[in-house]
Order: sequence, then structure tokens, then C-alpha cells
Amino acid sequence: MTNTIKTKVGIIGGGPSGLMLSQLLDLKGIDNVVLEKHTRDYVLSRIRAGVLEHGFAELMREAQCGARMDAEGEIHEGFFINDNGKMHRVDLAGHTGGNSVVVYGQTELTRDLYDAREKMGGNVIHEALDVAIHGADSDSPALTYRQGDETFRVECDFIIGADGFHGVSRKSIPRDVLKEYEKIYPFGWLGVLSRTKPVSPELIYSRTERGFSLCSLRSQVLSRYYIQVPLTDSVEDWSDEAFWDELKRRLPDDVAAGLETGPSIEKSIAPLRSFVAEPMRWGNLFLAGDAAHIVPPTGARGLNSAASDIYYLYHGMIAHYLDGDSSGLETYSAKALARVWKAQRFSWWMTTMLHNFPNHPDYDQKLQEVELSYLLSSDAAMASLAENYVGLPF
Ligand code: APR
Ligand code: PHB
Repeated sequence: MTNTIKTKVGIIGGGPSGLMLSQLLDLKGIDNVVLEKHTRDYVLSRIRAGVLEHGFAELMREAQCGARMDAEGEIHEGFFINDNGKMHRVDLAGHTGGNSVVVYGQTELTRDLYDAREKMGGNVIHEALDVAIHGADSDSPALTYRQGDETFRVECDFIIGADGFHGVSRKSIPRDVLKEYEKIYPFGWLGVLSRTKPVSPELIYSRTERGFSLCSLRSQVLSRYYIQVPLTDSVEDWSDEAFWDELKRRLPDDVAAGLETGPSIEKSIAPLRSFVAEPMRWGNLFLAGDAAHIVPPTGARGLNSAASDIYYLYHGMIAHYLDGDSSGLETYSAKALARVWKAQRFSWWMTTMLHNFPNHPDYDQKLQEVELSYLLSSDAAMASLAENYVGLPF
């Protein structure tokens, strides 16, 4: 027997995108259901980036989930670029009329969204398996899933595909409708989380002859560091000691001398990839977040790109349900993609400027060097970097 659930919006995926939209819609009285294939503990065990742009932080507050972020997150008004041993500060606030970013781990943010959903009695279904989309291009779309031995059918007005890069929703759009754009970079990031005092109060992005590195943090007692590694490397190739040694070599001597090391509590390698799927709407199915686009982490745009999708969808849904105006939903794909591509450009630019490319032709190598030296010598170029890093307007 199949159990039937009726709702307005059926959301696939309980990551930040799906949970945020669910919470915002619920606050406006728009009934919705979230289907997440993993357990809550599993979702909360994933370590991801930790820089939130101003607009995302605002959305967290609007979702009534911003209290802990505001109490425990750190406001960062700048960061450093280390160009082969020479440190330069990027003054985000100075170049953007006082704008900044919030350093707050995505894991914590997801926990806050889960807590908020639970407090409101939100319908978040975990371990929803074999989720399938039916009639996305019809007036009666539906989702089916299995939980244990039982099967369920969710009948809704709209389906939101917020199920990440490997989810089912993008794949259910016909091949002749969807166009995918992809760029794969010839390296990955080896990341380490450690219970140590961060080496610097502000992030340090380093371009060195040995490759890229990033010093980031989650709090004053929790550090997050990354180094560029070849795609052929695996985590087993990197002892903690080897990691710390290599990180030190990619920092200015005085910074390296102050680096506190310790056992890694998480260590992983992530490949770097840029990806966009167009359009982001097919019939009554809307893609959001990583389901539609991913960026390399260099510009800290991943979660922030998802935020604008959620913003546009949320406002489109409010206008549809509360004012009978569907224009926001009609224009969703075009509006979302316009901002998505700007985040793609910025992430590609930061990635290209700061990494070592194996087999780079000499000419490209020279261009890469001049790109960075121009940036570091030009107020206008710095302002452009700052404007993109704090987040373009929604
Ligand atoms: N059925 C149900 N849930 C699914 C399915 C499926 N078939 N496939 C994936 N999911 C779930 C995943 O388990 C995950 O919890 O969808 C969720 C997608 O979450 P994310 O991958 O975090 O994507 P998103 O919410 O768009 O977040 C975007 O957060 O994850 C980062 O790098 C990402 O920074 C970016 C931002
Ligand atoms: C992180 O803290 O994990 C982080 C910060 C900035 C980035 C990427 C990752 O650009």
C-alpha cells in the first residue's frame, strides 16, 4: 500500500538549500515536505566550507536561524593573499562601503536549520530512499519514496531539486532540455581540520611555487587548512606530519613559525570542478544549489551561490501563493543563472590566479603572474575582488 501525503512544495534534499527554503516557506504558511536520503547525523558529519556572505547571513536571520551564527560566527572585514612569501591584505570593508563576511561552519549552520525545522514541527523526512519524480512537466507533479518497507507518494504543486550534485532531480530532466557546462581542474585540495589555534585571525590564500594553500578557521580553537595536491594523491599519502611540513613551506617564514600543529580530526581530498546545468526549471521542477551548479572552493562561493537560488525561489513562491503572481517563478531560471554565472566567473578567476597548473605553457604562466601582480597593485582590481567576495546583490 502506498501512503499519500499532500503538500504545496515537495523538496528533495535536506542540505542547507532544502532546509533553508523549507524553513522560509513554513514561516509564510506555505506547507512543504523535505525528503532527505541520509540520517541527520550523517548530514551533520560532513565538513564543508565556512565563509558566509552578507546576503546569506541575512537570509539566515530572516529564517529565524541566525542567533547562534550571530553569537558564535566571526565577522571578517578582510583576508590576506600571500604572493610567494609576501603578504597583502584585501580590505573587504574598505572596498565595499563596510561590507564583510561571516566565518561560521556550514555544519553548524545546517544544525541550526535542522533545529529550527524541528522547533516549528517542520516535515523533514530522513532516510527517504529511492526518491523518484513523476509528472514534473504536468499540473500534478508528485514524488515517491520508500522508508523501510513502506512506500509513500507526495502530491504537490511544485518540486524543488535541492539534492546536491549527485542527486536525482537534475538527472530526471530530459537530455534534450538540459545543457551542462563543466570544467575540471587538474588538482585537488587536501583539507585538514585540527583543534589548534588558527595561525592568523584572518584567512590567508597563498600562491607559491610549491602550489596553493589556504589557512581558514572555524573558531579560535578550531583551524581548517588546505593545500593543493595532484589528483593522483590520496589521503593515505599524507601523514599529519607531511601535511604540516608542506603547509609551512607554502607560508611566509614568520607565519609558518607561528603555526600551531596537532592531530588532524578530519582529513580529505576534494577535486576542484566548475559545473552549471541550464535551465534551472523544467515544468514544475526547480533546481537549487549544488543540484544545478558547483564551483571550486577558492572563492568561497558554493553555499553562497545556493543562497541566491533560495532567495529567488522563496520570493517567487510567496508572490505565487500570497499574491497570485507567478512572474517570479517564471523568471527564476534566468535570474538565478545570471548570478550563478557571475559566481562561476569569480571562482574560476580566483582558482586560476592562485594555483599551480601542471604543464602550463610559459605564456599562460606569465599571464597568471601578471594577473596577481596587477590585482595587488590596483585599487580598482582589489575593489572588484572585494565586491565579489562579500557577494554580489541578489
Ligand atoms: N534523495 C533524497 N536526498 C538526496 C538525494 C536523493 N536522491 N540525493 C542527495 N540527497 C541529499 C544529500 O544527502 C544532501 O543532504 O541532498 C542533500 C544535498 O545537500 P548539499 O549537497 O549540501 O547541497 P545544497 O543543500 O545545495 O548545499 C549547497 O552546501 O553542500 C554544500 O558544497 C555545497 O556549499 C554548497 C552548498
Ligand atoms: C573553509 O573554511 O573551509 C574555506 C574558506 C574559504 C574558502 C574555502 C574554504 O575559499
